[in-house]
Amino acid sequence: MKHITIAIDGPAAAGKGTLSRRLAETYGFYHLDTGLTYRATAKALLDAGLPFDDEAVAEKMALEVDLAGLDRAVLAKHEIGEAASKIAVMPSVRRALVEAQRAFSRKTPGTVLDGRDIGTVVCPDAAVKLYVTASPEVRARRRYDEIVASGQAADYDAIVADVKTRDDRDMNRVDSPLKPADDAVLLDTSEMGIEAAFQAAKRIVDAALNRN
Ligand code: DC
Repeated sequence: MKHITIAIDGPAAAGKGTLSRRLAETYGFYHLDTGLTYRATAKALLDAGLPFDDEAVAEKMALEVDLAGLDRAVLAKHEIGEAASKIAVMPSVRRALVEAQRAFSRKTPGTVLDGRDIGTVVCPDAAVKLYVTASPEVRARRRYDEIVASGQAADYDAIVADVKTRDDRDMNRVDSPLKPADDAVLLDTSEMGIEAAFQAAKRIVDAALNRN
């Protein structure tokens, strides 16, 4: 079988992460959540007490990110996500991280990368491109349920507002805005549970793999 990359894009909390991990397991591919590379860069700046408006400093941190050391549990924090979406608008930060992500995408036998610009910028030649989305209210509800299930208090209205702000920042930035690639298959999971969404994604990937 020739080398395959599956590109998965979509807004925050659309379910890309879970789908990507399950697809990678199913096909025996390596998986990279590219959001974690932006988060790791942001965390390095936060830890060092460095400012978020100095692109040269942020680029230096981006160049030092180790893809093998990305720890979801550490990087999941809300303030790291906020900081990540601010440095993700910087072209030189993106260039540094995209280069590392492209190198990862070439791992054999295949890879699944998820993020905002995988099908459009990082891996435009990916064999399969999925754009996973859901309404802001559904995504906020899922995040709310997750927080409450972990025993913490959550404010649904604040989460909806946060999801919309994050969408706005991701979709309207000048460099690599979030949008479906022309050849991406759209998967709206608003009305689907995770198992139905996975089965739908797998059908799309299988159909694309059969064409290749
Ligand atoms: O998916 P996430 O919340 O972990 O992403 C964190 C931030 O990084 C988010 O604001 C968008 C940005 N990001 C990006 O610009 N490009 C990617 N390929 C992945 C994430």
